[in-house]
Amino acid sequence: MIPSKVRLNSDETNNKKMSLEKNKPVKARLHPRNKNREPYNLDALVHSTPELKPFIKPNKKGVASVEFANPIAVKLLNKALLNHYYGIKHWEFPDENLCPPIPGRADYIHYMADLLRENNMGRLPKGEKISCLDVGVGANCIYPIIGVTEYGWNFIGTDIDSKSIAVADQIVATNLSLKNKIDLRLQTNPRAIFKEIINKQEKIDISICNPPFHSSIEDAQKGTRRKIKNLTGKKVKNPKQNFAGISNELICEGGEQQFIRNMIYESKHFAKNILWFSSLVSKETNLNRIYKTLEKVKAYQVKTITMGTSNKSSRIVVWTFLSNEEQKEWRAIRWK
Ligand SMILES: C[S@@+](CC[C@H](N)C(=O)[O-])C[C@H]1O[C@@H](n2cnc3c(N)ncnc32)[C@H](O)[C@@H]1O
Repeated sequence: MIPSKVRLNSDETNNKKMSLEKNKPVKARLHPRNKNREPYNLDALVHSTPELKPFIKPNKKGVASVEFANPIAVKLLNKALLNHYYGIKHWEFPDENLCPPIPGRADYIHYMADLLRENNMGRLPKGEKISCLDVGVGANCIYPIIGVTEYGWNFIGTDIDSKSIAVADQIVATNLSLKNKIDLRLQTNPRAIFKEIINKQEKIDISICNPPFHSSIEDAQKGTRRKIKNLTGKKVKNPKQNFAGISNELICEGGEQQFIRNMIYESKHFAKNILWFSSLVSKETNLNRIYKTLEKVKAYQVKTITMGTSNKSSRIVVWTFLSNEEQKEWRAIRWK
């Protein structure tokens, strides 16, 4: 069967828009259901996370703003966003672990909900019937947190780092809303993705992944220096470890391209277990080889969903091995 390649554009997201209600500019590139399209309500964020207060200072235009170049401030901001907008009261993980920007992570989950909606006669699939596998959940456990809070889905989160699994487990245990919704599984083979994680009978509606991006520590540091220079205009020789998470979390042999291609090859063996496979692809130039690999394994359908924040564009590639008939059957059996 020839794979169909569809490029979806995030609806309503391409032009700068004004919120009619408050006449404030909105972050129009974020998904329409993203809770953070409006400018941050700093008072509310400080109220929920008072430690953030010392890190709010006037920017060049004299407007109160978070010190985005300071990793401590960025972590506190994200903590406050999760607390205020998602009701997550406890979100503790070591500073050396990756600190995820919440709005961008939330977009991935919203686009996956839209994808499943297409299989569900236009209705957003909510609740614990839907299961999502997060490959590389990390210590921050961010995708399951958002997926559980926004849609009530059940999650399986995997990681090769036992410490990350333990920290994520602690986050789940300390937030009542997450309890019994997230099953964390250690992947003991760093070269495997689904093997040893999914059992033969298991059915999963969607798998998601924010893959390790860099192929070496030097590569990762280069990226972080660039990011700091963009934010501060300053050159930094040794960027702080916790900024953008320079740790093994971001590094794997062959970088994101190799990771995703391995995932694609392995996904073929789990063709009937997972309805949709997906991965973030940070570098657009990696897409061609990813498409070629998808053709090689004869994916039935491939889609690319573009998304972005004000300063960064990204995309999610999704694929399935199930025919239209099988997709209909999947829904009829699982989502009744
Ligand atoms: C870029 S981080 C993503 C963390 C988190 N999901 C986020 O978006 O902030 C990639 C994660 O993948 C994990 N990882 C690397 N290889 C893996 C594998 N084969 N299976 C599962 N997780 C893996 C790393 O340990 C790391 O936690």
